Amino acid sequence: MKEVSAGKNTVDNLHNNDFDYDIELSKFVSGMQSLDNNDDRIRYMKSFAKTVANNVEYKDFEPSDCEDYQRNYLSRHSSGWEVMLICWEKGNKTKIHGHPEMCCYYYIEGDFELELFKLCDDNNIELEKSIRVGTGDTFADCGQPDTYCNHIHRVTCLSEKGYSINIYSDDACKGDEYDWEG
Ligand SMILES: [Fe+2]
Repeated sequence: MKEVSAGKNTVDNLHNNDFDYDIELSKFVSGMQSLDNNDDRIRYMKSFAKTVANNVEYKDFEPSDCEDYQRNYLSRHSSGWEVMLICWEKGNKTKIHGHPEMCCYYYIEGDFELELFKLCDDNNIELEKSIRVGTGDTFADCGQPDTYCNHIHRVTCLSEKGYSINIYSDDACKGDEYDWEG
């Protein structure tokens, strides 16, 4: 995975009009802290992801030339929350990985295979389902705090290019990775 924070893909030159990612993420975090149930949290995450997607000039971000997908941080909050744009190219595939307590992803453009796994009692994983997803599809989950074994999945980009907005309640790079003999 490649992280970009300089050059063409800096956030500063991609602010759309008055949309400020830092301010919007702060407002979002405050809003999340005021909610008291997961249904509302999931709705709120999906709504925020769509708002970011509607404002980001995502085609100004370039998929990397390397074989891996490229994450571009739009904002990170002191509480741990982060929002990013991920650029994908055909064949890019994540490892099977888990997430922090809360996560949300919105596919701005592209076609993807999304494999969702469940964690078994013996700490192995089982494939729950494999689905085709794409432009406009949104997923969000609220799991357990203080662990990265939530919402275990693997994503593969099937289209020439793809773009997604990804929101996490903590540093997604810490996510647990899993082996699976599919
Ligand atoms: Fe993920």
